[in-house]
Parts: sequence; C-alpha cells; structure tokens
Amino acid sequence: MKKIGALASLFFFAVLASGCFLHPMVSNQGMALCHFSVDTHSQVLVVYYSYSGNTRRAAENLASLLQGDLYEIKPATSYLAPPALALLRSSAEEQFSCLPDLAGPLPDLSGYQLVLIGGPVWRGKVARPLASWLALNDLSGKKVAPFWTSDGDAGAYAADFAAQLAPVPAEGLEISQAGNLTDAAMQERLTDWIVRSQLVPLAAQMGK
Ligand SMILES: Cc1cc2nc3c(=O)[nH]c(=O)nc-3n(C[C@H](O)[C@H](O)[C@H](O)COP(=O)(O)O)c2cc1C
Repeated sequence: MKKIGALASLFFFAVLASGCFLHPMVSNQGMALCHFSVDTHSQVLVVYYSYSGNTRRAAENLASLLQGDLYEIKPATSYLAPPALALLRSSAEEQFSCLPDLAGPLPDLSGYQLVLIGGPVWRGKVARPLASWLALNDLSGKKVAPFWTSDGDAGAYAADFAAQLAPVPAEGLEISQAGNLTDAAMQERLTDWIVRSQLVPLAAQMGK
C-alpha cells in the first residue's frame, strides 16, 4: 500500500514537473492510451510566515510544485533573534491578547480558488504574525489548507488555525524537523499531501 502511495506521489511529481501535462502515451503493444492533467485553471496562492526559514522552504517548494504564487507575511517589526526573544515577545502578545502589525499591502485574494497557508508552530499554536494575517483577510468561498513546521510538538496548532478561519480548512500537513529533511524528502512529503488531500483536481482520460 505504501509502495502504491510512493509510486502515485512520484507519478504526480512527474506530471507537475513536466509542465502539468503528460502527453498521451502511444503503445504498439495494445495498451490503452491515457492522458493525465492537473487543472491549472484553479489559481493557487501559497501564503506563509517564517521566522527562521523552515516554513519558507516548504512554501517555495509548494508554489513551485503547484505553479502557484507566493506571498510572505512580514511583521511591521521583525521578531528578533535568538528564538528566546521571539518567544518572550509572542508570549507577551498572547498574554495581552494583541497581534502584531504587518508590513506591506495585503494580497488581492480575488483570483485564487485555493489558498495554502503555512507557518511555524509557536508555543503549540499559530505564530502571531500568521494570526494577524488570518484576522485581516477574508477567506470565505476559498478552499484553504494549512501546513506548519515544528520541532516535533505541534500541540494545538491545527485546532488553533481552524478556530481563526471562516471556511473549514482541508486536511493539513505538519512537517516536523524540516531542517533535517533533504530536498527530495521535503518534496515527497508535500507531494504526498497534495495527492492525499486532493488539493488540486487531477484529471485522467482514457483514450482509444
Ligand atoms: C517563539 C517560538 C516558539 C516555538 N514553539 C514551538 C512549539 O511549541 N513546538 C515545536 O515543536 N516547535 C516550536 N518552535 C520551533 C519552530 O516551530 C520550528 O523550528 C519551525 O520549523 C520554525 O519554522 P520557521 O523556520 O519557518 O520559522 C518554536 C520556535 C519559536 C521561535
């Protein structure tokens, strides 16, 4: 079963890598012709916040796999290094129930059907800059799916994310210890998620 999943993932990746279209296969051994395609008309936006780069890497891979657009959430004032300082600030913000201001214009979401939203786990929850972005944007009518990176303890991230959203999110993806993943392993995790959760329509047509 695992093998079939891996093969399906590999195949899907090959379809995407080939510009989303596989040309019909012609066989002289009586095999059926088939044509697979990914519906590229459904515009995809990958939105992310990343403090130290792990979520950015996943987001860039996703955008490239799905030929989507990327939007990076930036706090008006960056969270300082080292992480202990970011932790202090985010704890204070949480305690006082306040969210950070964001830099730059918000994206125009009107052209997107699918919005993939990524961020790091902070104290078992959605990182504060991503929480700001969720509070400022109307995602109703969109298909939304979260992905998040952690050091291994995602706590209540999925529930916290869902609680901040009007549409019910599709199945999410947790990437633990992303810094230890090779590029190939990262792409396999993402591809597997895309296939499993049917985030984009895959069409298969049998020919004669
Ligand atoms: C303020 C802060 C809080 C964090 N809290 C958690 C946590 O509760 N659980 C966990 O597994 N990792 C936690 N981490 C680690 C990050 O979630 C993890 O390294 C993530 O991959 C970082 O993503 P980024 O590089 O995109 O910022 C925390 C990191 C920071 C800076």
